[in-house]
Amino acid sequence: MKKATLTRFLIDEQYNHQSVPADLRLLIEVVSRAIKAISINVGKGALAGLLGEHGSAGSGDASINVQGEAQKKLDVIANEILLEANEWGGHLAAMASEEMEGPHAIPHRYPKGEYLLLFDPLDGSSNIDVNVSVGTIFSVLKCPEGVTQPTEKDFLQPGNKQVCAGFAVFGPSTVLVLTLGNGVHAFTLDRELGSFVLTQENIRIPEETKEFAINMSNMRFWEPPMKRYIDELLAGKTGPRGKDFNMRWVASMVADVFRILARGGIFMYPRDTKDPGKAGRLRLMYEANPMAFIVEQAGGAASTGHERILDVQPTGLHQRIAVMLGSKNEVERVALYHQE
Ligand code: AHG
Ligand code: MN
Ligand code: MN
Repeated sequence: MKKATLTRFLIDEQYNHQSVPADLRLLIEVVSRAIKAISINVGKGALAGLLGEHGSAGSGDASINVQGEAQKKLDVIANEILLEANEWGGHLAAMASEEMEGPHAIPHRYPKGEYLLLFDPLDGSSNIDVNVSVGTIFSVLKCPEGVTQPTEKDFLQPGNKQVCAGFAVFGPSTVLVLTLGNGVHAFTLDRELGSFVLTQENIRIPEETKEFAINMSNMRFWEPPMKRYIDELLAGKTGPRGKDFNMRWVASMVADVFRILARGGIFMYPRDTKDPGKAGRLRLMYEANPMAFIVEQAGGAASTGHERILDVQPTGLHQRIAVMLGSKNEVERVALYHQE
């Protein structure tokens, strides 16, 4: 049988579950088109002079985003591609991004829609220049009723209110992972046809795993429950867990989460004391929430250690949060250690 394209999949979803109104379908099609454009740019790399920092002549004068991080050229390009693609279709009320301090309004000359789109235009920026997988993450919320000029507070909805979330990985192949609240599905970009083709339906994360992902160099800054959990994994067969664990850390959340969807595992970026002003490394609204939605929809779990990520009431667009997600039994165990 011929494999379904993303377009066909979205139409079937609406037919079977009534979960994809026309505007949401347009939104996903537009985002997927932007992702194709980002994938092409990422693939050009040094050929088009796209590596390195934005606005820098190599003398440390790179532009700094609201996170206090130097922006890469591709961070800025990916952000612009997503903004331009989504401005004119009439499906959005506003957008927000890792690379912009406040919400981006839809210009007055264009029609407006009922959705809010949040994105991390390029995840894993530190991997761009070393030719390791990077990606794009996005989250879709409904604009509160009656709001015509959304401000930051209209975006501050818990992750359990997401109507759709997805991410792309620009690896050996470009893959788009999507949930609309009816399971998780993956689409591979057919570069000849230029379309995303459904390649994995109803992905399930195994509940048990022997693989973990964490940046071990932060160990001395971790809180005791985190240290205990990792110490027990490292003790292997002769330790309390009675089995050996393997470690992976790509440093691109998109690639680490894709691996977990493919074969299980647990991914953690806990809160640490390295910078007490920051409640973790990853951002709630456009990294933790969409990934938590996807992981839960695939039968996994996602926690801060203290509560379900999707139930956290956000307080800021760029708020950071501790993230533990993946195979259910491991996430539940590490959360239990935080309660004890
Ligand atoms: P971004 O490139 O969007 O700022 O996000 C990078 C994130 C995430 O993808 C990854 O898991 C983590 O930062 C890597 O952190 P370390 O550099 O501490 O390993
Ligand atoms: Mn990121
Ligand atoms: Mn980013």
